[in-house]
Amino acid sequence: MVHRIAILTSGGDAPGMNSAIRACVRAACANGISCLGVRRGYNGLINGDMIELDARSVDGLNTRGGTMLYTARCEEFKTAEGVAKAAAVCKYRDIDGIIAIGGDGTFRGIGELAKAGINVIGIPATIDNDIACTNYTIGFDTACNTAIESIDRLRDTMQSHERCSVVEVMGNNSGNLAVFVGIACGATATVIPEKKIDMEKEVFSVMRQSRLRGRNHHIIIVAEGTANAADVAKQIEKATGVDTRVTVLGHVQRGGTPSARDRVMASMMGVHAVNLLCDGKTKRVVCERDGDITDLGIDEALSMKYELNEKMYDVEKSLLV
Ligand code: F6P
Repeated sequence: MVHRIAILTSGGDAPGMNSAIRACVRAACANGISCLGVRRGYNGLINGDMIELDARSVDGLNTRGGTMLYTARCEEFKTAEGVAKAAAVCKYRDIDGIIAIGGDGTFRGIGELAKAGINVIGIPATIDNDIACTNYTIGFDTACNTAIESIDRLRDTMQSHERCSVVEVMGNNSGNLAVFVGIACGATATVIPEKKIDMEKEVFSVMRQSRLRGRNHHIIIVAEGTANAADVAKQIEKATGVDTRVTVLGHVQRGGTPSARDRVMASMMGVHAVNLLCDGKTKRVVCERDGDITDLGIDEALSMKYELNEKMYDVEKSLLV
């Protein structure tokens, strides 16, 4: 029987984390399970920093970006002593299961807790959409929409001044966010970590040719960690003579009201996570596969290798004319 669960958010925040917390709490309450919210990720588990959550304390959370539980990356939890402390706190507080919302690092954390005998479930949330076991991570849609809205604004001024805009988007080591945004805002080129790019052929020459066909401005998307956006801008100016400006979107992509998709995905994943615990399951990661909300064992989930969405990359390339 599950009497009490605890929920935490860890790693970089993502819009929709609050919706996931709300869904877990509401689903738990519906099953007569009491809930604790662990604050500041694994730090809160180690230090016993927890608050009681009930159906009313999560009212209105669907509309709020960020995470009401705060989030952090915890160095102490990477040590055996840290994990042992956290497991002892779970046992002392009579916690029957932990639901951890975050990325790969968060899942590695619950993997360690599971070894210490704690029941655990993971929910994928990161704007990067770079977790191999799931087609979708909470926060991705909102982050894309935020980036697209900013780039649409940039396009207006680039068009007026006949300039090129180099826009750096987040994504950690993944180009998924950049490619998605590139398609949606009609970028002239997208530079991502997974693909080696020939700047002359795939950027400068594409720009020159599209100028000849009448396009007077350009948007170039650079995924963070691939190249320095300012260097790319300098190269473009030198090679094409087009006046170029740089915008780094940065953490603005991590904030804001979650989109409908993120609210709904977070709600579905949250309910699924609570159902898993109620069914006596542990060491599972909730995922979206083939349009369905399902789950995988943590070890299998973590052994899978992240891959770029090649189909999407091909679509983007075929639109660059
Ligand atoms: O993983 C999410 C993410 O926003 C990445 O896209 C980015 O590289 C990183 O987190 C930034 O982390 P921080 O908020 O610690 O600067």
